[in-house]
Amino acid sequence: MSGLPTVVVTGATGAQGGAVARVLQTSGRWNVRAVTRKPEGTAAGRLRRSGMGVVHGDLNDPDVGAAVLPEASALFVVTNFWEPQRHSEYVQGERIIDAAIAAGIDNIVYSTLPGIAEITGGELVVPHCDGKYALEKHLRATGAAVAFVQPDWYFQNWHAVPNFRLHRAPDGAVTFANAIGDGCLPAVDIEDIGPTVATIMEDPARFRGVTVRLVSEVRTSAEYAAAFADRLGEPVRYQPIAREDLLAQGGEAAHLADMFEFFRRYGADVTAEELEHPGLPARRSFDAWLDANVDVFHALLGAEPAM
Ligand SMILES: NC(=O)c1ccc[n+]([C@@H]2O[C@H](COP(=O)([O-])OP(=O)(O)OC[C@H]3O[C@@H](n4cnc5c(N)ncnc54)[C@H](OP(=O)(O)O)[C@@H]3O)[C@@H](O)[C@H]2O)c1
Repeated sequence: MSGLPTVVVTGATGAQGGAVARVLQTSGRWNVRAVTRKPEGTAAGRLRRSGMGVVHGDLNDPDVGAAVLPEASALFVVTNFWEPQRHSEYVQGERIIDAAIAAGIDNIVYSTLPGIAEITGGELVVPHCDGKYALEKHLRATGAAVAFVQPDWYFQNWHAVPNFRLHRAPDGAVTFANAIGDGCLPAVDIEDIGPTVATIMEDPARFRGVTVRLVSEVRTSAEYAAAFADRLGEPVRYQPIAREDLLAQGGEAAHLADMFEFFRRYGADVTAEELEHPGLPARRSFDAWLDANVDVFHALLGAEPAM
C-alpha cells in the first residue's frame, strides 16, 4: 500500500481493537492491518471501506504470526476471554507476541488486566484478569519490548452487556445490577483506548514496560444510577446482587462474584496520576459520555410501560 509503516491490530472488529484501529487509521500515520477470523463479514467490510487492510487471523492458530505479521512495524494485542476458545488467553497472546518479537517488531501494546489472585493472595480468582496478568508478568520478566494498557470497566457495558445493562424491571423501573454493593467502580469510555495506544505507538521507547491504566471515573453504583437518572429524566434503580447468589451458581458467575468483590474492596484505589494521566490524551468523563449516548439508552429502554 502506501509507504506508511504497517500496524497489525487484533480484535479490530470489536470494542478495544476497533477503537485502536480507527484512531490509527484516521491519524494518517499508519497503514492499518485489521485481524479477524471473518474477513468476509459485515464488520470486516466496514473496516475495509474505511481504508484499512483486512487479514484473516485466528489467535488459536499456531502460525497466526506468519499469517498476519509480515512487513509489520507495530502490533496491538487484545484477547477475548468471553467466547469459547481452543487456547487460553495466555497461549493466544504469547504466541503472537513471541512471533512479533522474533520478527523484530519492537512496538507492541498488549491489553492486560490486574492479577487479582496475586493481589489477594489467592483469595479471589478471576481467570479473565489473572490469565492476562500472567502473560504481562512473563513479558516483563523476559524484558520484551511491550507496553501495557489496562482498561477498567467499560461505560459501554451499561448498554451492551446483557447481564449488566440498563433494563426495565417488571415494575417498569429502569434498573441495573452488579455485586459491588457500596463499593466503587472504576470505569472508562473504551473508545479512549484508541488515542492512548496511538500515543504509545508514537514513542514506544518511552512506554516500554509501562502499564497505562485506562480509567476516567470512580463512583459508587448508586452515584452512577443518579447520573443516569439525571440524564434519562426518570428514576434509575441500582440493584445489588448478593455475592453468595453468584457464588452458588459456580463457574463464570463465581468468577464474576470475585471480580465484583475485588472492585468492592479495591475499586476506590485509583491514583491521581492514573486519573490525570499526564502526557496522555484526554479521556471522556462519564457525564460527557452519557450526554453523547442518551439516545442509545432511550432506544434500549423504550417508553415507560403503562402501570
Ligand atoms: N467489558 C469490560 O468492561 C472489559 C474491561 C477490561 C477488559 N475487558 C476484556 O476485553 C476483552 C475483549 O475485548 P473487546 O471488549 O474488545 O471484545 P469484543 O468487542 O467482544 O470483540 C472481540 C474481538 O476479539 C476477536 N477474537 C476473538 N477470538 C479471536 C480469535 N481466536 N482469533 C482472533 N480474533 C479473535 C474478535 O474478532 P472476530 O470475531 O472478527 O474474529 C473481536 O474483534 C476480554 O478479554 C475482556 O476480559 C473487558
